[in-house]
Amino acid sequence: MHSFEEVSSNLESEFENNSQAALAKMMNLEPNIHQLIYHHVSDIKMVKGKGIFVYDSEDNRYIDCAAATFNLSLGYGHSEVLQAVKEQAEQLIHVTSTFQTDPINAVVRKLVEVSPENLTLVHPKVSSGSVANEGAIKIAQRYTGKRDVITLFRSHLGQTMMMTSMSGNAFRKEPFPNLFPGSIQVPDPYCHRCFYKQKPKTCDFLCVERIHDFIEYGSSGSVACIVVEPISGNGGNIVPPPGYFQALKKLCDEQGIILIFDEIQTGIGRTGKMFAAEHFGVQPNIITAAKGLGGTGFQFAAILTEERLGGLEGHHHSFTYGSNVLAAAAAAKTLDIVSQPQFLKNVEIVGKYIMERLRKMQEKYTFISDVRGVGLMIGVEISDAEGNPNTALTNYIAEVAMKRGLIIRTSRYGYGNVFKIRPPLIITLEESEQLCDLLEKVLTEVG
Ligand SMILES: Cc1ncc(COP(=O)(O)O)c(C=O)c1O
Repeated sequence: MHSFEEVSSNLESEFENNSQAALAKMMNLEPNIHQLIYHHVSDIKMVKGKGIFVYDSEDNRYIDCAAATFNLSLGYGHSEVLQAVKEQAEQLIHVTSTFQTDPINAVVRKLVEVSPENLTLVHPKVSSGSVANEGAIKIAQRYTGKRDVITLFRSHLGQTMMMTSMSGNAFRKEPFPNLFPGSIQVPDPYCHRCFYKQKPKTCDFLCVERIHDFIEYGSSGSVACIVVEPISGNGGNIVPPPGYFQALKKLCDEQGIILIFDEIQTGIGRTGKMFAAEHFGVQPNIITAAKGLGGTGFQFAAILTEERLGGLEGHHHSFTYGSNVLAAAAAAKTLDIVSQPQFLKNVEIVGKYIMERLRKMQEKYTFISDVRGVGLMIGVEISDAEGNPNTALTNYIAEVAMKRGLIIRTSRYGYGNVFKIRPPLIITLEESEQLCDLLEKVLTEVG
């Protein structure tokens, strides 16, 4: 028992510290959940999901245009994946990744089969996108014996300390004093707002050409790799123009730089191909994959490399939940489903339908300055009357959409002016029509 004086003096100091949760704890009251969860969460509580839909505790239904965190390639509660996981759970959930298991072997074989021909080795001892990217960079550094990493201005390669340091976007780095040195950010192939004020038909890929200058004047003189998202995930759905990656690969080959594709968002069917590299007709030296690999929400990631890049030891880069057997069972089933030609064809058809509808909306609503995308990796850019980025309106569209039952995420964590349409890949044509009809209502309401 605390004395009255003790409690009241504690209460006073708690008031001073403004800690309502500590106060509630002391008084044996149940604190509000917002006071306990470290970061901000919505007031909406989700309780179930099926296909492209997720339902809240008041039974409101939402079409999820973000496929959760762009990871539910097969949507909510995919029955075949769940069955595979249930069967695996009865056999073996986890064993150290030193041993072979059937699910890991199946994922490795399938990834080699569906990736560009030059990629024949799979490193599955990672379980998140950030850590897969870090592993890819370590592989490049070890192989080349060089240091620096080149990435794009608007890249988002993850949120570990290393990936925060090496991604673009000042707003993500601002609070942290000890970021990693050794990376250079260069302008994106963002033709809608070209950094070099060029036109795509006549620019001759100046944005690639200038990377020579960044290397010459801005690097340590020792560049190991360039890491790019083939289409930027968080940075605004920037789709590089045809020929960009060929120019970039040429630069890499000339300079002995390893080209790494972060396909954490674009991989596993999102563009209508297993990997976006195939869409752009280029063979990177390394691809990283995560998100969509887990199909219906399981956590699996992998690094795919050329054979010559092998040799990174387990003690250099392996993690407890890398190669998790249960997640691998989900990934193996997901790869089987997504790699079916008719599955990928559906992504292409549905993606084209959504793009056409969005282009019609662009004609009607002057605040849409660009619609761009490949397959179901689509972005809509919002601008003001002068053509400048209109972030406030972009966020408002997402807010109204949510109220109307459409989950839409915006670029650069709310700092950007692009909203994204990236639903689960299992979306049907009828559901896409519903999605577009609803979106059009939202745009009419805000416009
Ligand atoms: C393109 C890209 N790379 C890497 C990551 C990091 O993946 P994870 O959150 O699994 O670490 C993300 C996550 O949003 C991403 O979109």
